[in-house]
Amino acid sequence: MTANFSDKYGPWGLIAGASVGLGAAFAEELAKRKLNLVLIARRSEPLKKLENELKSRYDIDIRTVALDLASPNLIEELSPHTDDIEIGMMIYDTAFHTIGAFFNQSLENHLRHIDVNCRGPLMLTYHYGGKMMQRQRGGIILMSSLSGFQGAPLLANYGGTKAYNTVLGEGLWYEMRQHGVDVMVSVSGAIETPNYIQTKPKKLSFGPGPMKPVDVARESVAALGKTHTFVPGKMYRFSSFVTTRLMPRTMAIKIMAGSTEQMYGDRNLITNPKL
Ligand SMILES: NC(=O)c1ccc[n+]([C@@H]2O[C@H](COP(=O)([O-])OP(=O)(O)OC[C@H]3O[C@@H](n4cnc5c(N)ncnc54)[C@H](OP(=O)(O)O)[C@@H]3O)[C@@H](O)[C@H]2O)c1
Repeated sequence: MTANFSDKYGPWGLIAGASVGLGAAFAEELAKRKLNLVLIARRSEPLKKLENELKSRYDIDIRTVALDLASPNLIEELSPHTDDIEIGMMIYDTAFHTIGAFFNQSLENHLRHIDVNCRGPLMLTYHYGGKMMQRQRGGIILMSSLSGFQGAPLLANYGGTKAYNTVLGEGLWYEMRQHGVDVMVSVSGAIETPNYIQTKPKKLSFGPGPMKPVDVARESVAALGKTHTFVPGKMYRFSSFVTTRLMPRTMAIKIMAGSTEQMYGDRNLITNPKL
């Protein structure tokens, strides 16, 4: 399995947003499958810590790159670190989010959602996906969210950016598989990442609880090449089937609003800072 995986998606995997939480769990999944890694995040220290941990367990090469994925010069900043290697797998993990009413947030804040959550994955997919197309092999996972399956009140713009990733990935799944490149969108429910934990959500009285990052990463990597859109976790698969296929859309939007209101009450503006 490991040999097939690295033949198809190796020798290097690049993870955008990889120092902690889900990104770190993705790094471990690829390391287990013997891919060398390029790990990106803003802070160097957690990146170096993860590099040392992985190197102590796996015989792989690792490069760490500290940069902001919202940078307008993203490719120019990344190129010196990746031009001499073959990136056979790209995972765009990171996202910017703010929980709160749309008009309580500045336009600048909304535009940062677009830069990190849409512009970033578009640029990396275009750059590294283009090289995969030339090589006729490779894999791309774009992280998305159930909040992008219908309107997500109090997460309206974030949900919109996640819908972009879902639809972009589904379209590319069809276009790129004809050239030997697997594209998959992982559409997750809540995940117990440091980002999620720092928002201090109240426990929901309905629906599944948050998943562990290791489970989301393991299931997502295992699903690559088998489908275009994957929802990690049986319970989330079931609940998203109900909300997207069986329920009127208006009801699905209201349920999404109800869960965010229940988790965050009247604390109406929570952003994810550098942790
Ligand atoms: N957590 C949830 O409940 C949940 C639910 C559904 C979907 N998702 C999706 O899962 C993905 C990851 O979730 P998460 O946000 O909780 O993150 P995470 O994977 O736990 O951590 C985010 C990683 O990205 C890095 N990062 C954040 N902003 C960055 C930037 N602008 N440039 C470069 N690196 C950056 C962080 O390190 P630095 O801080 O050092 O930059 C960190 O390593 C996202 O796509 C999200 O939409 C999450």
